[in-house]
Amino acid sequence: TRTQVCIIGGGPSGLLLSQILHRAGVDTIVLERRNRDYVLGRIRAGVLEGGTMQMLRDAGVGARMDAEGFVHSGTYVATRNRGFRVDFQAMTGKQVIVYGQTEVTKDLYDARDAMGGTVIHDAADVAIHDAGGTPHVTYRRDGAQHRVDCDWIAGCDGFHGVSRKAIPDDVLRTTEQVYPFGWLGILSRTKPAAPELIYANHDRGFALASMRNDQLSRYYIQAPVDDPLDKWSDDAFWDELRRRLPDDVAQAMETGPSIEKSIAPLRSFVAEPMRWNRLFLVGDAAHIVPPTGAKGLNLAVSDVHYLSQALIEHYAGDDEGVARYSERALARVWKATRFSWWFTTLMHRFPDDGHFGQRMKQAEIDYLESSRAAQTVMAENYVGLPF
Ligand code: FAD
Ligand code: DHB
Repeated sequence: TRTQVCIIGGGPSGLLLSQILHRAGVDTIVLERRNRDYVLGRIRAGVLEGGTMQMLRDAGVGARMDAEGFVHSGTYVATRNRGFRVDFQAMTGKQVIVYGQTEVTKDLYDARDAMGGTVIHDAADVAIHDAGGTPHVTYRRDGAQHRVDCDWIAGCDGFHGVSRKAIPDDVLRTTEQVYPFGWLGILSRTKPAAPELIYANHDRGFALASMRNDQLSRYYIQAPVDDPLDKWSDDAFWDELRRRLPDDVAQAMETGPSIEKSIAPLRSFVAEPMRWNRLFLVGDAAHIVPPTGAKGLNLAVSDVHYLSQALIEHYAGDDEGVARYSERALARVWKATRFSWWFTTLMHRFPDDGHFGQRMKQAEIDYLESSRAAQTVMAENYVGLPF
């Protein structure tokens, strides 16, 4: 088989890239290792920036998001049993929307089906060949070996994919910071604790009250990353969450059985450059942020913005976008990496913080409450820097 762009990975970045290119007349094949139900079953991000919303609308996949998503024009930040609101709308004129990654991915699959896009599931042993010359990709499916010849390869295969590893060691520079804790998350069929998200700093560790809709809540607490999940019964989770949220919220909060429970490690990771000859890296394949700033999915979408434009321009005879993809994407990636690191550090309890470290965090949060300048800095980053 031959295609113009072979996309490895059928998560949000691979599907959105395929959708935008197809609408512009550029031919793609998406190779996904898992089946569709598995991809749609992964509970991940929940908050979309305005720029992400616009990208989805422009790609023809914004209708259900606009109908069913919840626009938030601010968020709560809490410490020492007190919370205050940071008003994104007042500080920046911008808002975010609560609409789960699962729903975004479902909308993208539906749109790909409707346009007759090619997404090959259960593609095993995907391998990249000759990305420095005449690229092709091989994979195995139903016991047979297949080959896709292409002009370009887009590595949209997440942190554990094969694409990044295809770039020679002496070309790729990576930097990584692993945080000394994880996030234990649950989903429950309960009313959200508050109308907007609550990010809480507490002596016992971070907590986040989030949601998917008015009957579905998502909560996270900072926890040791190697804690066995069976240590965290639903009751143990709710007890710990309530201790970390302001009392008034904790007392009024509805609780119930969890319908999903998982623990995720936190890391910052950036690989550069994001292009090597005919191979591009996109989204989590190139970078990971800790989830505190809700940036992971949004960064994947901004990468797709730069890359889709670059490839559309390439087929119109202009290669500047291809030449500058890595530099443009990384400029935004590093800024989001900085914001995610800052907000993670501010809100979590680190093993060596001590009393001084925790007091400094409380004082910074108090300053955030009192300073319009500080709130503007936070809001501008949270709603998303311009593309
Ligand atoms: P992915 O969503 O990882 O998609 C990559 C796809 O490639 C997958 O479908 C995978 O099956 C496929 N693939 C992998 N290897 C191969 C291969 N060899 N061949 C073919 N296909 C392959 N972000 C937030 O903002 N908030 C959150 O709360 C949050 N929670 C997260 C929790 C977890 C456990 C993880 C892993 C991430 C979380 N993120 C969160 C980050 C966010 O989900 C990601 O940034 C986003 O999914 C990136 O999209 P992507 O398409 O680049 O990568
Ligand atoms: C969610 C996850 C985040 O990392 C975040 O910052 C906000 C919300 C969520 O899953 O709802």
